[in-house]
Amino acid sequence: MGSKNKLKRFKENETFSNVIQPTREEITNKEFHLKGKWAKEFFKNDLPIVLELGCGKGEYSVGLAKMYPEKNFLGIDIKGARFWRGAKTAVEEEMNNVGFLRTQIELIDLIFAENEVDEIWITFPDPQIKYKRTK
Ligand SMILES: C[S@@+](CC[C@H](N)C(=O)[O-])C[C@H]1O[C@@H](n2cnc3c(N)ncnc32)[C@H](O)[C@@H]1O
Repeated sequence: MGSKNKLKRFKENETFSNVIQPTREEITNKEFHLKGKWAKEFFKNDLPIVLELGCGKGEYSVGLAKMYPEKNFLGIDIKGARFWRGAKTAVEEEMNNVGFLRTQIELIDLIFAENEVDEIWITFPDPQIKYKRTK
């Protein structure tokens, strides 16, 4: 994907109410504002929360949200230009039980309260351990 296209997607993500893109500092410097309040304040309901870690384009998050309207689905990925696809589809289809969080999945302990997450999916993760990440 060209960098122009990526920038366009980043910009559009900022306009989607189903996307949240906190800075690392917002997560690590103090208690994250949605911690313990995801259902009520982000999804605006009290349904159980399912995470998809490394959601890519968000096809599973969107597909599962359609299949299970009694649950909330949150796709998490560091690459916003990828999950833009799922976020846009969810906006276009007026889905209220799916959202996307741009962050590193290593930070999830700081983002969700104990017992706040009901289920975690990891679909087709990156198989290789990159040398620079092994440290
Ligand atoms: C192989 S893709 C799988 C995408 C999707 N789950 C699917 O099945 O199509 C792995 C995804 O994990 C994301 N990812 C890898 N490491 C990550 C990390 N530490 N934090 C957030 N996302 C990560 C990548 O950006 C990529 O989109």
